[in-house]
Amino acid sequence: MGTYPKEMQESIERVEATRPARLAAQPARLTLPEQEALLQGFHPDHRAEGKRKLRVGPSWGDPVPHELADLLEAYPLLDPGAVDVTKPDCDVDVLVVGGGGAGTVAALWAHRSGIPAERILIATKLRHGDSNSIMAQGGIQAADKPHDSPAIHYLDVLGGGHFTNDPRLVRALVEDAPEIIRWHEDLGVMYDKAPDGTMSTIHGGGTSRKRMHSAKDYTGLEILRVLRDEARSRGIPVLEFSPAVELLTDAHNQVVGAVLWNLETSEYTVVKAKATVLATGGWGRLHIQGFPTTNHYGATADGLVLAYRAGAKLRDLDAVQYHPTGAAYPDQLVGLLITEKVRGLDAQPLNRLGELFVHPLEPRDVESAAFIRECAPPEKGGRGLGVTTPTGMIGVWLDTPMVDMIHGKGTFQRALSSIYRMYVRFDIDPTKEPILVYPTLHYQNGGVVIDEHGWTGIAGLYAAGEVEGGVHGKNRLMGNSLLDYNVFGRRAGIAAAGWAKKAAPASPTLAHVERYVGELKAAGVPPTRRAPLLLPEYRGERALARMVDLL
Ligand code: FUM
Repeated sequence: MGTYPKEMQESIERVEATRPARLAAQPARLTLPEQEALLQGFHPDHRAEGKRKLRVGPSWGDPVPHELADLLEAYPLLDPGAVDVTKPDCDVDVLVVGGGGAGTVAALWAHRSGIPAERILIATKLRHGDSNSIMAQGGIQAADKPHDSPAIHYLDVLGGGHFTNDPRLVRALVEDAPEIIRWHEDLGVMYDKAPDGTMSTIHGGGTSRKRMHSAKDYTGLEILRVLRDEARSRGIPVLEFSPAVELLTDAHNQVVGAVLWNLETSEYTVVKAKATVLATGGWGRLHIQGFPTTNHYGATADGLVLAYRAGAKLRDLDAVQYHPTGAAYPDQLVGLLITEKVRGLDAQPLNRLGELFVHPLEPRDVESAAFIRECAPPEKGGRGLGVTTPTGMIGVWLDTPMVDMIHGKGTFQRALSSIYRMYVRFDIDPTKEPILVYPTLHYQNGGVVIDEHGWTGIAGLYAAGEVEGGVHGKNRLMGNSLLDYNVFGRRAGIAAAGWAKKAAPASPTLAHVERYVGELKAAGVPPTRRAPLLLPEYRGERALARMVDLL
């Protein structure tokens, strides 16, 4: 046995003892009322103290997590008097803010729609590709097999989102999906295939068909490897280490570009653009309700702040996605993603007695709530059956040896090679021993309101990827975020190109920022906070105490 301490090893013996019976039986699904009761009782979204109603802006009165409200109710980072925005440093047709998956796809499709490469600019906070898109593990959904159809995919997405999704966006998502996979294949993405050349597909949580396409457990890296190369081949310019700190608007309230801040030289760059695509990703580094996170350092909700000040409406930001299987041991791995593909390949979640307490592939919010209930103490309504580590972390087992037992020796190392490497570095062999997991902050379910072309309702402003909302309603299913950024990156790039061909922007201003500051003052918000945040704050003592605080 690896490095597990004695008290954890005793629990592993119980896991091993229950395994033969579990291998022989099919786990039961929860009924809808059972799912609802779990969510109400144990999902962090239902802790009223975790959020507050916005006091300013177009979504005034909507509840959002405090961590986001703090940024939306903050004063600009940029001193409007310090930059002359009427004298742009650069003038383009399409400005893409964000160089992850959505931004890269939007730029590619703006180019394919007739905008010359040199009239497009990708401005990104870190390096091109540094993003959650590149860290995605498990896969991308697309109903492209005979047993499946976009209509069935549509129903799964709506059900997973508790029927709160925008149906127009869901339709776009599922209908474009097969074409996106074909496009990827044409460009050279290497998806996993069976020996006969057909795509290998598996289940994700809440899917009624096996439609998850993957490239081992580094699907995001493989897709972005190819998309980024394609952007380079097409000569699309990229400005790195240059986050947008404010959008620009003209006298007609059109968005006409952005002010960038060079992280290396501390200089501003004013970019005038006929169309702007926001592709800044989500909020995962805000550590909502103190949770650890799977997210990239850049995920600090910058795009929400910028769009909101420019008048964009937000939706579903009261719904936070916690991924059920964040690593909970050893401490060095806490919060890191253990892909849902592990459960897609039949690993089961177990309590400290070795009991299977929930079906492995309930929708994510339900699965996470079940894990939290299992770990919460009885005085808080929980079952108190989590496994405690020597440093006081708590979690449930994920019975990873089942993957090879069910699918054949070598499957884990072949299909889940990143996860395997992650653990053997700590002398834990997941093909022989279970691993400890607990929910971790993963995704921003909601975001900027868009239509099916990625248009925000503000002339000249489009949004794609995690920054936008409505596609997933209040709960996204696995594999629909890679799909989302491709579908809506493509649609936003095409629409932005169309707009750029006819737009005639007037002189750029920061008038919307001045108006917003006026609203903040009128609401009595003190000038103590600045946004966008750009990079997360890691000083303080809470890092490892996070999830224990919740119980
Ligand atoms: O579990 C995962 O691999 C995550 C996938 C997703 O969020 O879509």
